[in-house]
Amino acid sequence: MVKIAPSILSADFAYICDEIKKVEDSGADLLHIDVMDGHFVPNITLGAPIISCLRKITKLPFDVHLMIEKPERYIDDFIDAGADILTVHAEASLHLHRTINYIKNRGIIPAIALNPSTSLDCLKYVLDDVGMILIMSVNPGFGGQKFISNMLGKIRDLKQMLMARKIDIPIEVDGGVNIQNAKQIVTAGASILVAGSAIYKSKDPGQVVQILKGKNI
Ligand code: DX5
Ligand code: ZN
Repeated sequence: MVKIAPSILSADFAYICDEIKKVEDSGADLLHIDVMDGHFVPNITLGAPIISCLRKITKLPFDVHLMIEKPERYIDDFIDAGADILTVHAEASLHLHRTINYIKNRGIIPAIALNPSTSLDCLKYVLDDVGMILIMSVNPGFGGQKFISNMLGKIRDLKQMLMARKIDIPIEVDGGVNIQNAKQIVTAGASILVAGSAIYKSKDPGQVVQILKGKNI
């Protein structure tokens, strides 16, 4: 069954405990935490100290998406703060193989994210070392953008690549995911859906999680 990772980027941080509880009680599988540095993406969000505070208020696994330049500088900080999955962008880490294996050797799940324009080719020699691939279906930096429909083909191509290599790791899709397009994205090959505004800008975030996880998907 598809897993749902609500992105707290669109949550109200004044009430972050409640915002997380709503999705946890409704069956969310992971909590997606977007870290932005104002360099790799034109926006700034939060860092490791806040993640370690959040670690105290939920049991949900933390799916930490680093949208930062040279993420290798901060890997230990984010693991120590409580990340369970740590995703780095292929475009942001020059020595990607080393970065991924460093995360793996620290005992959590290493993942690679690709911007919409980045080819799957860059995964060829690191695919055996990762635990998840994140396909960005918007240009990273902001919540509330429109899903780029060309990414359905990219998800299909990645699924084929994984099957041909007999590698059984999840494909996560992030950006513009909502109740209307979730089924198409899962049919293309995604097994983890990130959703920010579709969940947190709705009247009932818990219900949206349930619908996204529902039998119609
Ligand atoms: C975008 C972030 C996403 C964002 C998704 O750069 O990586 O995780 O929160 O937000 P929505 O679901 O609103 O596109
Ligand atoms: Zn994200």
